[in-house]
Amino acid sequence: MKFASRMECLQDKALLNAMELTETADMISFSAGFPSPETYPVEDIKESFIQVLDHEGKEALSYCSTSGYGKLRELIAERMRDKFDVDYGTDEVVITSGSQQALDMSSMLFINKGDVVLFETPSYLGAVNALRAYEAELVALPTDYEGLVLDSLKEALDKYGERVKLIYVIPDFQNPTGRSWSTERRKEFIEFISAYDVPVIEDAAYSELCFEDRLMPPLSYYDKKGQVVYVGTFSKTFCPGLRVAWLCARKNLMENYLILKNAADLSSSAIAQRQMANYLQNHDLDAHIKWITGLYQERRDRMMEVIDREFPKEACYVVPRGGLFIWLELPEDKDSRELLRRALAEKVAFIPGGSFYPSGVKNNELRLNFSNMSYEEIEKGMTILGRLTREYLAE
Ligand SMILES: Cc1ncc(COP(=O)(O)O)c(C=O)c1O
Repeated sequence: MKFASRMECLQDKALLNAMELTETADMISFSAGFPSPETYPVEDIKESFIQVLDHEGKEALSYCSTSGYGKLRELIAERMRDKFDVDYGTDEVVITSGSQQALDMSSMLFINKGDVVLFETPSYLGAVNALRAYEAELVALPTDYEGLVLDSLKEALDKYGERVKLIYVIPDFQNPTGRSWSTERRKEFIEFISAYDVPVIEDAAYSELCFEDRLMPPLSYYDKKGQVVYVGTFSKTFCPGLRVAWLCARKNLMENYLILKNAADLSSSAIAQRQMANYLQNHDLDAHIKWITGLYQERRDRMMEVIDREFPKEACYVVPRGGLFIWLELPEDKDSRELLRRALAEKVAFIPGGSFYPSGVKNNELRLNFSNMSYEEIEKGMTILGRLTREYLAE
């Protein structure tokens, strides 16, 4: 059978494999970027579903409008104002089936074969795959501890000129590194990029999973031109199974997004959206988020304790101030894929860092998820990984 040429661009199966591994019994998996299932508010969700079915059953089981359930969009626009001081009208919010769909739609909207997309490296594999599916040329830009390196952005814009059709970034608790852009870099970035006519996708999947008191202003807060498309999701703060997420864009862009959303799936699940709206009106999502970030912070601390105790000193990391990941760096001549091979034999999994570099240039890092395993599993799995790392580095 002959497949479309885009399939040739989609050969990296690390994310697919990571998601499959979560189904393997007795595997201690630090691989997938999932929240912890024990935090899902199952009873509250059940209650919301029952209320929705009791009071709006027919609407909930019908098709929904393509833009999404109006009340939910209104609540999201309100949340964006309260949390981030960003003013989007209800008609500038579209509900998507996971933020992954928003990334797919953004690629569909802006990318023709061979167009250039600029993005931070390392970066989220799911976005890389969504962009690859449209046969984009991915140009990776380096990051430092403040965010995207602006000199390299300028160089790339000079070099590729009109071919640059999109910039994709994750400014908060980035996947995979856990790092966040500084406020200064956010301002500088928007100031700089506003001189160009290139859309910026701001993936805010982790922005509310903050271990400190103050949330960072999103790029869209500084954007006066309507150049930034903001992508948010309830997957990490609530639960991923409902697949409820959203995209905010100014009206001129939104019209095009709606055409694509309609072509993709007509609408997101009406019942899931109504459940989400019901939950938001009758429960305190912020209290829930406060609770889960407290739990994740404790798990992060436990993971760091075991790393500090069990891993050789050459294994370095920067303390993540939110999100779900620790990014561990081994000496440059070491390959985390070899470490993974050994770890899998002892039923411990993680994602080797090379998968987050589409050009596969660096293989000495690993991404460790700390949210999804219990204290005991973190202790056990990381102790095994520490021993394997010591042995491997000593060779
Ligand atoms: C940075 C980032 N963006 C988007 C997603 C997709 O999330 P969802 O489709 O569940 O909203 C993920 C999932 O891991 C992610 O890490």
